[in-house]
Amino acid sequence: MQREIYLDNSATTRPYDAVIDYINDINRETYGNASSLHTKGIEAEKIIKAARQKIADTMKVDSKEIIFTSGGTESNNLAILGYLEANPRKGKHIITSSIEHPSVLEVFKYLQGKGYKVDFINVNQEGIIQIEELRQKITKETALISIMLVNNEIGSIQPLEDIVRARNELNREAVLHVDAVQAYGKIAILPKKSGIEMLTVSSHKIHGPKGVGALYVDKNIRIKPVLHGGGQESLLRSGTENVPGIGGFGMSAEMIHISREESYQRMENLRNLFIDSLNKRLDRFTIISPEHALPYILNISFGDLRSEVLLHHLEEKGIFVSTGSACSSRKSIHSHVLKAIGIKSCDIEGAIRFSFSAFNTEQEIIDTVETMKEIVPKISVTRKGR
Ligand SMILES: Cc1ncc(COP(=O)(O)O)c(C=O)c1O
Repeated sequence: MQREIYLDNSATTRPYDAVIDYINDINRETYGNASSLHTKGIEAEKIIKAARQKIADTMKVDSKEIIFTSGGTESNNLAILGYLEANPRKGKHIITSSIEHPSVLEVFKYLQGKGYKVDFINVNQEGIIQIEELRQKITKETALISIMLVNNEIGSIQPLEDIVRARNELNREAVLHVDAVQAYGKIAILPKKSGIEMLTVSSHKIHGPKGVGALYVDKNIRIKPVLHGGGQESLLRSGTENVPGIGGFGMSAEMIHISREESYQRMENLRNLFIDSLNKRLDRFTIISPEHALPYILNISFGDLRSEVLLHHLEEKGIFVSTGSACSSRKSIHSHVLKAIGIKSCDIEGAIRFSFSAFNTEQEIIDTVETMKEIVPKISVTRKGR
C-alpha cells in the first residue's frame, strides 16, 4: 500500500481510533432516542450529558451553556441569527472581519440584504484585524460583533483582548461571538475569562466525527432557535440528537485537551522543520502565513506554478494538501483571505495550505519536502514551456 501523508488537517482530521471505537459501540449498543423514557433512551441521554460536561470543562463553563449542533456552520448561524432574532431592540448594526469563514460571511451578507448595517473590518498584511478601524465602527447601534479566533487559511490569531477591550469601552451591550473552530483544542479558550458571550466549536477539526459541533452561549444571553421542531437542546436546536456524534465529540475534546500544550510545541517544531527543509531544497517560494500564526497552519506560495497542479502531483505520491480553504477550493475564485492580506494574484494561484496535526511526524515532513524538491522544478518548467 502506498504511504499516506495527510497534511490537510484544517479541512478535517482523521478521528482518533478510540473515538471510532466509541462511536461504533454507541451505534451498536446505545442506539436509543435520547428523548425516549425507557432505559435505551436514558442510556443515550447519559452519553449526551457526559459529553456536554466534557466540552464545558475544556472551556471552564457551565454544561447548561453548551448547545450541540451539526457543526461549526450551524453554530455560527445559530449564534448570529439566533441572537439578532431574540434581541431586535439591541440595534441594527453588526460587525465582522473581512477574512471570516463563509459560514459567518454569508450570514452577514444575508443580513445586509435584510436591512442590517454591516461592517467588514479590514486586516493588515499579517491577517490581524485593524483595531483602530474596529473602534471607529462600534456605535451604540452595534448589536453583535463576530470575529474568528484563528483563520483557517493562514492561521493568523486575532488579538481577543484588544477586541474585547474595544467592545467594553465603546458599547458594553454589543455581544461578541467568536468562531473558534480552528483554535479549539490548540490554544486555551476561556470565554468567561475573556469576555466572550458566544463561541463556536466543531468536532471534525479535533479528531472527532463530522457533522457535530457546539455553541457556547453565556447564560445571561438570550437567543432564539433557527431550527424549529421537537425542542431538543433546551428548545434551541430541534432534531433527534446525534448521540454517536456527540459522544465521539466529547471524547475527542477531552483527548485533544490532555495533550494540547505538548502538541502545540510539536507543531511548532514540525512547522520550523518544514520551513528549514524547504529553504535548503527549494529556492522560489513565499511564506504567506504570518510569523506568529498558529503553527498548525502553513500557507506557502510557489509563485510560478498553479497550486492545483502541485496538489495533484503530491496526491499521486500519497501526500494530501489543500489550495486555499477546502470550502472554496472547488470554486475557481481567488481566496478572499489571501486577497485581504494583499497577496498578488500570481502568488494566490501558487498558494498551498499545509496543515498539521498531532498524527504527523518529522519523517513525514522530510519526505514531503523531498517530494516537493522533485516535483516543483518540473511543473514550474512545464508551465513556462506552454
Ligand atoms: C474557521 C471555520 N469556521 C467554521 C467552519 C465550519 O465548520 P463545519 O465544517 O463544522 O461546519 C470551518 C470549517 O472549515 C472553519 O474553518
